[in-house]
Amino acid sequence: MNQPYDLLVRGGTVHDGTGAAPRRADVAVTGDRIAAVGDLATATARSVVDATGKAVAPGFIDVHTHDDRALLSNPDMAMKTSQGVTTVVVGNCGVSLSPLSIDRRPPPPLDLLGDREWYRFPRMADYMAAVDAAPAAVNAACLVGHSTLRVGVMDDLMRGATASEIGRMRERLAEGLEAGAIGLSTGLFYRPANAAPTEEVIALAGLLAPAGALYTTHMRDEADDVMKSLEETFRIGREAGVRAIVSHHKVTGTANFGRSRETLALIERTRAGQDIGLDCYPYIAASTVLDGNRLDRCSRIMVTWSTKHPEVSGRDLADIAAEWGISQLDAVDRLNPAGAIYFMMDEPDVRRILGYPHTIVASDGLPHDAHPHPRLWGTFPRVLGHYARDVGLFPMEEAVRRMTSLPAERFRLAGRGTLAPGFHADITIFDPATVIDSATFAAPATPARGIERVYVNGRAVWQDGAVTGAHPGRLLRRQALQAAA
Ligand code: ZN
Ligand code: CU
Repeated sequence: MNQPYDLLVRGGTVHDGTGAAPRRADVAVTGDRIAAVGDLATATARSVVDATGKAVAPGFIDVHTHDDRALLSNPDMAMKTSQGVTTVVVGNCGVSLSPLSIDRRPPPPLDLLGDREWYRFPRMADYMAAVDAAPAAVNAACLVGHSTLRVGVMDDLMRGATASEIGRMRERLAEGLEAGAIGLSTGLFYRPANAAPTEEVIALAGLLAPAGALYTTHMRDEADDVMKSLEETFRIGREAGVRAIVSHHKVTGTANFGRSRETLALIERTRAGQDIGLDCYPYIAASTVLDGNRLDRCSRIMVTWSTKHPEVSGRDLADIAAEWGISQLDAVDRLNPAGAIYFMMDEPDVRRILGYPHTIVASDGLPHDAHPHPRLWGTFPRVLGHYARDVGLFPMEEAVRRMTSLPAERFRLAGRGTLAPGFHADITIFDPATVIDSATFAAPATPARGIERVYVNGRAVWQDGAVTGAHPGRLLRRQALQAAA
């Protein structure tokens, strides 16, 4: 009866992830699971943490990441654990490190994850085995990237795939799903996939529903044709009979400011007939590879990395061009391959999308950029401290829900995202009075304030403002459909 727990978090205010009103409760952990939540005044434990005045929440789930390689090259994952993140979903926007092995520089945006030496996992099972063999601080689930599939089987990316190429992509996707990938992502916006017709995606997505997997997409267009792109996404979901997630939903370009009213209304109407989800990062600037086509849509462009001119990382493109005495378009050519931050959204749209009850909070952070977008280090504390507490967009427990049970349910990460007995002991303790992002566009790699302690599978990964060096993360393989039985 009085067996000691491994860990007892005493006196905190539990935000259990469901959106329920916070309540004062102790939390006990045995092994890698939550053993009890409630008044545990008489309990004993090997380790006791006083959380008086602090919020105790499920670890946050970052469903939109590009951490495929970071799990292997930066296993401490400080940019995530410092925010309270305990699980990441990799392989978003059509770009996954696997299944692909190539002998040349990967085309943009695949190069956001690393150079060719990182594309060395011809099967998803190989990548997953590498993560299993050298676990990271956080858990991870994998998507198979459509652009990665295309680069692997096509000699010319500027056209639709042939029937036999689709067949080979289906084989690779099937292998990935079999190995435990949770779904397929596309980045139809990007050059390696832009020429793919909708039917090509539907042909691949047909494998998802029988496996209980999902479809996520960086849509073809998030600007003037954003409504058409939503319709395309919904069509893929309908015809493949699969749950679809609109990645980093936004409307870009001054001419489109305010159109989140239309997009959210369409999403809301469509949700009545099919399963649609969405995620969003809390900033008015986007970030990806450097592309001259975006020049006239942005109020400002910052360079985040450049292989030829690494010294300009963190500077504005306009200033670089002026200094070089050339046009911004010529500067883009001189800098590429490179990455950038694009200021191209309207704050009221960001708030409207974030405030929509079905929106998941996710970072889209780019972990290998020399001067990354601050979303990499700031997303979750920014939503908690800025948008929930200071702006009042929603209550703190609702902010926590959008980072925990909502993403766990949408991405079918069983046993995660709720603080209740039997769930995995992924726990974040934060100070609701002080939590805030510290990462800025000028100083992006700055850890947030107010994230006190973070546990993954029962083990501390972040405490006293630093990583602990523990790597208790696991690869979360797709739950076979036995859940339905
Ligand atoms: Zn994207
Ligand atoms: Cu992304």
